[in-house]
Amino acid sequence: MKILLVEDSRAVAVVMAARLGSFGYEVVLAENGQIALDKFQESAPDLVLMDIEMPVMDGFEAANRIRQIEAATSAWTPIIFLTASNTHENLITAIEAGGDDFLAKNWPESILQAKMKAMTRINTLRQRLANNLAQLTETNRNLADAQNQLLQSQTMASVGQLAAGVAHEINNPIGFINSNLGSLQGQVEGLLKVISAYEAADPVLTAHPALLSVIAAAKKSADLDFLREDIVTLLGESRGGLARVAKIVSNLKDFSHVDNADWQFVKLEAGLDSTLEVVASEIKPKAEIRKEYAGLPEVECMVAQINQVFAKLLVNAAQAIEGRGSITLRTGFDAREAWVEIEDTGKGIPPENMQRIFDPFFSTLPVGQGTGMGLSLAYSIARGHHGRIEVVKSVVGQGSTFRLTLPLRRPAGA
Ligand SMILES: Nc1ncnc2c1ncn2[C@@H]1O[C@H](COP(=O)(O)OP(=O)(O)OP(=O)(O)O)[C@@H](O)[C@H]1O
Ligand SMILES: [Mg+2]
Repeated sequence: MKILLVEDSRAVAVVMAARLGSFGYEVVLAENGQIALDKFQESAPDLVLMDIEMPVMDGFEAANRIRQIEAATSAWTPIIFLTASNTHENLITAIEAGGDDFLAKNWPESILQAKMKAMTRINTLRQRLANNLAQLTETNRNLADAQNQLLQSQTMASVGQLAAGVAHEINNPIGFINSNLGSLQGQVEGLLKVISAYEAADPVLTAHPALLSVIAAAKKSADLDFLREDIVTLLGESRGGLARVAKIVSNLKDFSHVDNADWQFVKLEAGLDSTLEVVASEIKPKAEIRKEYAGLPEVECMVAQINQVFAKLLVNAAQAIEGRGSITLRTGFDAREAWVEIEDTGKGIPPENMQRIFDPFFSTLPVGQGTGMGLSLAYSIARGHHGRIEVVKSVVGQGSTFRLTLPLRRPAGA
């Protein structure tokens, strides 16, 4: 235990320091209040023994200042005043100046020791309380975090349910509309052929001017030449639109089926390579691929889902690149986790979008191109694996790095 002994009489100080030293205390000496303040801050003592009457700055003032210093940090060091004049006024002033106890210099040493013991005990209790408080604060913060995550995953779960329902309902009509449109296209082509065949008979009809003028009027009012071309365009566009709806529905289905699949031990880097093949047509025109593989150990995961995450991240990376750029695939691991980073030299994510990119349906792609489900799907898959997906870096105009982190082993109960 370290004691700051503040005493202006050199003779008294030396004797007391020797005695305290012989009891096993470490003693720091100060010969007036001003010096005591410096030594207090320098040496952080466990207890201060403070003389009252001293030159430059007396003990009351020094105690007062020490309490001011401590106020900023909520620390507390016991201060015991030592004095020759054991008056009631001195006692009261000492306590009011921030002292904790008072001792006449002529009292036996054993009393000083007992009082020091009492002060130490209070200080220990105080520190224990402070530790408990720090722990509680930490626990509270963790709880708040956990609650946030829970809310987030509940939102994702209910979005998943909704998605499954919507996808299921829409799938059926999409199926028959698509097949009807297919038939319609064939039938319209047939009709147009019949009309063309009739048109071949036009010269013969010159003998029947009445009939010919009715046909001419009908052709004109229907705008037959325009109709011939437009009908084909309309049908083509409708089928294209329907294909887009079908893609959204299939994304929704992927999204809602994230929790049923097989867990197995896989080499993530091989998964990354094969996914790269699957999405090659979207990546190759946009980017050079660089690989910085660390040689990952096998990771226990639902490989089909994880490959989907890779696909979504790879396609996003390619879509972020205007013109040509590069995509770097980087892996790493420690004793608990493995991670895969996908870094692109694309246009980056503006800070105002950063909060929203994982939201379902958030997309900055041109209308009709993105469903905005890619990252929210990746997010739920990562959570389903007790892993996480995050943007480690994104600078507008320079590129972004996404990282998927997974535990090496499926956690118990997952
Ligand atoms: N690598 C990236 N660089 C820049 N922006 C990105 C990147 N990845 C995602 N984003 C942003 O996040 C948005 C959401 O991405 P997400 O994959 O969820 O949907 P999407 O790509 O727009 O559509 P979908 O994936 O359904 O076709 C994107 O529209 C884009 O603004
Ligand atoms: Mg996407």
